[in-house]
Amino acid sequence: MVDIIEKKRDGESITKEEISFFVDGYTAGTIPDYQASALLMAIYFKGMTAEEQGDLTMAMVDSGDQIDLSGIKGIKVDKHSTGGVGDTTTLILVPLVAACGVPVAKMSGRGLGHTGGTLDKLEAIEGFHIELTQKQFVNQVNDLKLAVIGQSGNLTPADKKLYSLRDVTATVDSIPLIASSIMSKKIAAGADAIVLDVKAGDGAFMKTVEDAEALAQAMVSIGRQVGRNTMAVISDMSQPLGYAIGNALEVKEAIETLGGNGPEDLTELCLVLGSKMVVAGGKAETIEEARALLEKVIEDRSALALFGELIDAQGGDSKIIHDTSLLPSATFKINVPALSTGYIAKMEADEIGVAAMVLGAGRETKDDDIDLAVGIMLSKKIGDFVKEGETIAVIHSNKDDVSKSIKIIQKHIHIAKDPQEKPELILRMIT
Ligand code: URA
Ligand code: CA
Repeated sequence: MVDIIEKKRDGESITKEEISFFVDGYTAGTIPDYQASALLMAIYFKGMTAEEQGDLTMAMVDSGDQIDLSGIKGIKVDKHSTGGVGDTTTLILVPLVAACGVPVAKMSGRGLGHTGGTLDKLEAIEGFHIELTQKQFVNQVNDLKLAVIGQSGNLTPADKKLYSLRDVTATVDSIPLIASSIMSKKIAAGADAIVLDVKAGDGAFMKTVEDAEALAQAMVSIGRQVGRNTMAVISDMSQPLGYAIGNALEVKEAIETLGGNGPEDLTELCLVLGSKMVVAGGKAETIEEARALLEKVIEDRSALALFGELIDAQGGDSKIIHDTSLLPSATFKINVPALSTGYIAKMEADEIGVAAMVLGAGRETKDDDIDLAVGIMLSKKIGDFVKEGETIAVIHSNKDDVSKSIKIIQKHIHIAKDPQEKPELILRMIT
């Protein structure tokens, strides 16, 4: 291990065997934290070649189980977002893409950031359960073209252990380490093709478009090296996506979007990502053809109907797709007034995420309970005009004292005197 650390410290590449020796030994507990920390810090400063990143990814994949999706007919396409605020895309894309004939076997997680993850959002639908056996999962995708389950099995234990160590050794912010961490989980989850949505901006891991592009490039390169068709879209997270932030509120927004009445930015991002998924899944030759298919399944309501079938198949009541008032709703709805007159210049997505978490929409620590009904509905987006006292957001809460959330929202939605341009939604693409 000392030789491996020394090699990387001096900027040399390490071999596949050396990488496996480190990953296996650290997972098994035979390599101590201090040596693993030293190697991670050396990687942080000296980087890794594309080949090393591929080897690190596969060593982490091999540290645990892999999901076997070979029982599902067709090309299985997965989608991953590097995480944003109010990001409802997965909820929409699963039925949207499946309605075009692409099988979607989605394994999802709970929220790690300030707001809930896809599983938390789905649990806002009463009765919906995400515990399916492997066999039920595969059968349901073959029958209906879609299923969503929670993380099951012992997937990438090496990543779990290394991620915890990176967290306390200031080595999280390393593109080779982030890229291999994310890709190891996607590869272990079994998809043939992977569409990545890499966020750039205040609300995201990567604050600049250049960093986001470098991360996207690294992940695409890893995926292709190991034989998975991988592509990436870099999208804006300088403000939350759509208007809804909060679990039941986002389910409602997803239903509206599937029905063709969603927010412009959320709808567009779903069409862009969805087109790539449909092409990767072999159901269209070109992006334009794929987009037309997606627009058709929104228009004829078959995507929304399929969402209803997913809900019924997994124990929920699909009546909510026609009547969203059946979703959990909060006792208090409190308007947040603008403190001045002007144009919305900035909406710090991560801070607005904190305002939602304070209400109970997300977890402060991993074991916290979530209040599925609460959250924030934004009334404005960047570029919109607002008058002093006019509502910029509506807080949905089960506690009557929401002064803390109001303060956070007012502080982090910036209002400028001069007109402001709306940010571009799609910043770059790696095809
Ligand atoms: N998300 C991950 O899964 N891994 C990282 O290293 C960073 C973000
Ligand atoms: Ca949203």
